[in-house]
Amino acid sequence: MPEKATDKNNKSIYILGIESSCDDTAAAVLKDGKIISNKVANQSIHEQYGGVVPELASRAHQQNIVPVVDTALKEAGISKNDLSAIAFTEGPGLLGSLLVGVSFAKSMSLALGIPLIGVHHMKAHILAHFIRDNEMKLPGFPFLALTISGGHTQIVQVNNHFDFKVLGETLDDAVGEAFDKSAKIMGLPYPGGPLIDKYAAKGNPFAFKFTKPRVDGLNFSFSGLKTAILYFLQKQTKDNPDFIKQNLPDLSASIQYTIVSILMDKLKLAVEQTGIKKVVIAGGVSANSGIRKALQDAQKQLGWEVFIPKFEYTTDNAAMIAIAGYFKYLNGEFADLSISPKARLPLNQD
Ligand code: KG4
Ligand code: ZN
Repeated sequence: MPEKATDKNNKSIYILGIESSCDDTAAAVLKDGKIISNKVANQSIHEQYGGVVPELASRAHQQNIVPVVDTALKEAGISKNDLSAIAFTEGPGLLGSLLVGVSFAKSMSLALGIPLIGVHHMKAHILAHFIRDNEMKLPGFPFLALTISGGHTQIVQVNNHFDFKVLGETLDDAVGEAFDKSAKIMGLPYPGGPLIDKYAAKGNPFAFKFTKPRVDGLNFSFSGLKTAILYFLQKQTKDNPDFIKQNLPDLSASIQYTIVSILMDKLKLAVEQTGIKKVVIAGGVSANSGIRKALQDAQKQLGWEVFIPKFEYTTDNAAMIAIAGYFKYLNGEFADLSISPKARLPLNQD
C-alpha cells in the first residue's frame, strides 16, 4: 500500500466503487483504503435461463443501481458530497451491463464535480487483496495471481499496483465456465459452480476419472473436459437414467478434483519458472473450497505464502473496484468524460 493514505490537505479519501460488468450490481465505499460499506444486488432472473442473458442483465442493472449506491452511501454513514472520486468498471464485461455503470458514474462525477476513475475488472479482482480489512493480510511484491472467474483464467505476475504481466491463460473456456457448464450438463441451475462445490463436500474425488488436457507452458484449456463429462454422462444415463441423481456428490467431487489439479499443476510450474512463492487467488472461483484447500496444502508442503480473499471479495463486488480506483487516485490517473466501456480489455491496456 502506498504510504500516503490521505490527500494533500490531510483529508480522508472516500472512493465510491461501482461494478456492473456482468450480473451483479454493486457499490462500495472505501475510506483511505479501508472498507466502510460493500453492497451487492444479485440478479436471480438468469437462473431460469441457465446462464446470464445480457439484455435482462442491463435492465436489472438499470433498476438496481440507484438503490444500491444509495444503500452503500447510507451504510458508510457519509453523504455523496463527502466523496473524493468515483471509480467504475471500464471492462472487460458485457457491454450493455458496463454501460449502465459507466453512465451512472459519469453523471454522478459531473454533478458532484469530482474525478472519475476507470478500472480494469480483472486487475480489481487481484487488487482486492489490498482492501484494508482486518481479516486479510497484504501480499508483498512481486507475487503470482491465479485469476479464476466466469470469464477469465490467468496466471499473472504482479510487480506493483500497476505492473501486471500475464504469464499464461486459457485458450478456450474459463474455469468458471468449466464449473458452470459441467453443472448444467448434470441438470443443476446457473451458476452451478457453487453447487458443484457444495455436493463435492460429500463425494469421493477419485470415484470417476476425467483426463486432464495437455497444454504447453502456463496456458490452460477447459473445453475438452466439458465434452468428456458430456460423453461420459450420455453413456451412463443410457443404461441408467438415474445415474446423475444417484452419483451427484461423487460426480461433483471428481469434476472439482480434476479442475483443481489442472489449476494447481500450472501454478506449480509458474512458481518453478519464476521462483516467486507468494501466490494469491482472485475472482469468483476462488470461493471454491477445493482450490482453497489445495493452496493451503501447498503452503504447508511447498513453503508457499498463500493469500486467499474473504468470500465477499471473491465474486464480483465493488470494494475491489474502489481499491483499484484508490491506487489510481493516489497516482493522479483520472478518466475524462469521453471514456466508454470496453467488452474486451487486455490486462496491459487500461
Ligand atoms: O468473478 P465472478 O463473480 O464473475 C466474473 O467476473 O466472471 O465469477 C463467477 C464465477 C461463476 O462461474 C461461478 O460459478 C464461479 O465463479 N463460482 C464458483 C464458486 N463460487 C463462484 N465456482 C466454483 N466453486 C465455487 N464455490
Ligand atoms: Zn469478476
